[in-house]
Amino acid sequence: MSVLITGASGLLGAHIATALVREHVVGVDRHPWWGDKPLEMAQGDLLSEAFVTEAVCRVAPSVVIHCAALVDVDACERQPEVAEAYNARMTRTLVRAAGPEALFIYITTDGIFQGDRAFSTETDEPKPRTVYGWSKLHGEQEVQAAGDNHLIIRTNFYGWSSGRKRTSAEWLYRALATGEAVTGFTDFHFTPIYVVDLVERLLVLMKSPHRGIFHLCGAERVSKYEFAVRLAAAAGLPMTSLRAGSIESASLLAPRPKDMSLSCDRFCKTTGLDVPNCNAGLRRFGADRDRSLAQRFEHGAR
Ligand SMILES: NC(=O)c1ccc[n+]([C@@H]2O[C@H](COP(=O)([O-])OP(=O)(O)OC[C@H]3O[C@@H](n4cnc5c(N)ncnc54)[C@H](OP(=O)(O)O)[C@@H]3O)[C@@H](O)[C@H]2O)c1
Repeated sequence: MSVLITGASGLLGAHIATALVREHVVGVDRHPWWGDKPLEMAQGDLLSEAFVTEAVCRVAPSVVIHCAALVDVDACERQPEVAEAYNARMTRTLVRAAGPEALFIYITTDGIFQGDRAFSTETDEPKPRTVYGWSKLHGEQEVQAAGDNHLIIRTNFYGWSSGRKRTSAEWLYRALATGEAVTGFTDFHFTPIYVVDLVERLLVLMKSPHRGIFHLCGAERVSKYEFAVRLAAAAGLPMTSLRAGSIESASLLAPRPKDMSLSCDRFCKTTGLDVPNCNAGLRRFGADRDRSLAQRFEHGAR
């Protein structure tokens, strides 16, 4: 099996590339590879059709895992055309170049929903509130239009990254550790999953015959405030700098959905696997802090 991973130097892509040990893996990103295991990389801009076509032709992948995106929600809001170019058109170029024989795995978001109900399912109607959400939904539609050989994975994850770009969980960890003031929203809910837990389950799905849309995230719906409390408890950090607040009083450019929680029932029934609760994921996250990427997959939770 040859696997092409876009966004391989990002949070999710780097973890997937590391977890795949038996396959021929080629990473694509505009940044260099930073993991401890050697990885064949094609470095360049995925917005360039010529670059995408050349990379896909050279690798002839049996699986494409598309993680690269414009992930900054407020940047998308400021520049809708740029968001579309990254999240919809780049996806179209890639899925067409890969062809119908290749399994195309598109990583997408809980932000495609309106966010006015708990535990959205795959059959609920998407209705994004943000430009980011719309552009990712258009990416999903490009994948569906290209054929049936796909997995569309809607998720929301956290983890340790390369240090080049601090993830939100890293930022939260550091703020709690240094006593920097943090406001956790009590009226903004989600179902977060630790990235290593996500990748282990994603790869089971990839190797299965199942196709279509799957929600794959944590089992528990928590507020951002509750998540911060639990992260502090799991990591033994003080909570003195954490205060509860409302998203209503935050000056965010993009109008955030308030309930981004997803139901993973379809994934669990289809694969027979569970998804972890919030504390289990956070314990693993805390324990992995000083581990290399490869070591994170050697310390299985299950
Ligand atoms: N993080 C979450 O909680 C979350 C939640 C829901 C869905 N997702 C989805 O999950 C996927 C992966 O997210 P992530 O957090 O791993 O993102 P990430 O850390 O930003 O990784 C994406 C990587 O792709 C690169 N990239 C972006 N555009 C590129 C281009 N035109 N050419 C080459 N490389 C490019 C990025 O470089 P730059 O850093 O320079 O942009 C980055 O290295 C995304 O599709 C995102 O929409 C993420």
